[in-house]
Amino acid sequence: MEYLVKLSNVTVKYRNNGRRYLTAISNVDLNISPGEFVAVVGKSGCGKTTLLKVVAGLIKPDEGEVVFNEHFFNGSKKRIGVMFQSPLLLPWRNVLENIFLPIEIVGEDPESYVNRALTLIERTGLKGFEYSYPWELSGGMQQRVALCRALIHKPLLLLLDEPFSSLDAITREEMWSLLESVFLYENYTTLLVTHDIREAVLLSDRVIVMSGKPGRVKTEVRVPFKRPRDISIQYSKEFNEYVAKIKSMLSEQHELQ
Ligand SMILES: Nc1ncnc2c1ncn2[C@@H]1O[C@H](COP(=O)(O)OP(=O)(O)O)[C@@H](O)[C@H]1O
Ligand SMILES: [Mg+2]
Repeated sequence: MEYLVKLSNVTVKYRNNGRRYLTAISNVDLNISPGEFVAVVGKSGCGKTTLLKVVAGLIKPDEGEVVFNEHFFNGSKKRIGVMFQSPLLLPWRNVLENIFLPIEIVGEDPESYVNRALTLIERTGLKGFEYSYPWELSGGMQQRVALCRALIHKPLLLLLDEPFSSLDAITREEMWSLLESVFLYENYTTLLVTHDIREAVLLSDRVIVMSGKPGRVKTEVRVPFKRPRDISIQYSKEFNEYVAKIKSMLSEQHELQ
């Protein structure tokens, strides 16, 4: 298989108040190879979440096509894990029960996923909190639970929508390290959308730069740093050159608007 995800010429329009059309993303081409970690950066409102929802099969494009795993999208939820800015945990369920939620949604037996869940809990540093409730956990721990829930099915594709942006700076860095270490065990094809350029450069193999209104793919930059990456690479000269380059690409488009 050449690409796990292939978007060709995708355009999405929203109907505002049933009258005006707003073009959220326009003529987007995006290919993701199996095992690749792709980040999409762009300013708030440039269509990142819309793009992610198209890849997830939650929005059908008005134009263009989406191919996932060599099929036109058939909405198979089991093959895609998603993590959002907010952990969206059910407050009346403990950690294990929250992680089992996607299993129950597709009608499978959580019992057969207990070992898988416990492994993920261990890898994400949540051991001892299996029976804790969301309100007993810090924001960072809640996002770890959300990561376990996204990975419980060993998804073919992991979608991350600004998953660390509501965390404080120190916890966010801990989550970057954690993601890198979880990927040492199982390497997921991943699409991360973020407005945080440092996060994109640190985590991804390729950064797609989006311009806004309507959202378009402007350019892309390959990130060559070897894995596993230590978060301390963010202090290197080369890392900061990549960040500066992408930042200037984002502000160039600002001047054009
Ligand atoms: N459900 C919706 N209905 C109407 N407009 C929307 C809807 N969702 C997003 N938009 C608009 O589409 C544009 C892109 O939004 P979004 O994909 O959420 O951008 P981002 O995630 O980059 O902030 C924005 O102008 C936003 O206001
Ligand atoms: Mg968004």
